[in-house]
Amino acid sequence: SHTTDLAGRHVVVSAGGTREPLDPVRFLGNRSTGRQGYALARAAVARGARVTLVSANSELPDPAGADVLRAGTAAQLREAVLKAAADADAVVMAAAVADFRPAHYAEGKIKKRDGQEPEPITLVRNPDILAEISAERARPGQIVVGFAAETDDVLANGRAKLARKGCDLLVVNEVGEHKTFGAETNEAVVLGADGTETPVPYGPKGALADTVWDLVADRLG
Ligand code: C5P
Repeated sequence: SHTTDLAGRHVVVSAGGTREPLDPVRFLGNRSTGRQGYALARAAVARGARVTLVSANSELPDPAGADVLRAGTAAQLREAVLKAAADADAVVMAAAVADFRPAHYAEGKIKKRDGQEPEPITLVRNPDILAEISAERARPGQIVVGFAAETDDVLANGRAKLARKGCDLLVVNEVGEHKTFGAETNEAVVLGADGTETPVPYGPKGALADTVWDLVADRLG
């Protein structure tokens, strides 16, 4: 059994979805609930790891035994993840991080005015946390895992993304009904920078979590 193969290890998991504010009452967000990240955190606790869960806007209950940090925006998530990653053996970026944020934040609520067209929303890029962590490696041998939701050419796009991000493992999901966002189940392929390809059959997010930790534990040696 793998019950304690992560004992003595510190792992960081990000979960949920970031929200990028437009004004005090509005944001750009996504449909991530945090279920996959929370399943990863629970599985790592069960395998003996010290777990830091950086949670973005999830309503799920804190996993027992994990240190839970909260982040709202991508910038806040980045701060928390980079800090926690400093002494981490593995970092798993399961959070859906906004690629873009509004260029301007309105201090007062944006109002509609009679006879006026709405102002366009200008977006700017957010830093890519996964790429940054992969490039920096706060610790030698640190294992970095990313997630990718794809709608088409899942494997080819996944391989390209793995190379672009520079992570060790990329969990590639096909986005669809009953899969990925908000679902209790998931189906995925885990691509390794070493060329490996591990299919994970349709099943509970806890099973995918255990496959990810199996692959991470292998690489930690
Ligand atoms: O590029 P894309 O958003 O598809 O990549 C998804 C992966 O990259 C996820 O692991 C996500 O947590 C991470 N990501 C990130 N910072 C961003 C965007 C995505 O760390 N700004």
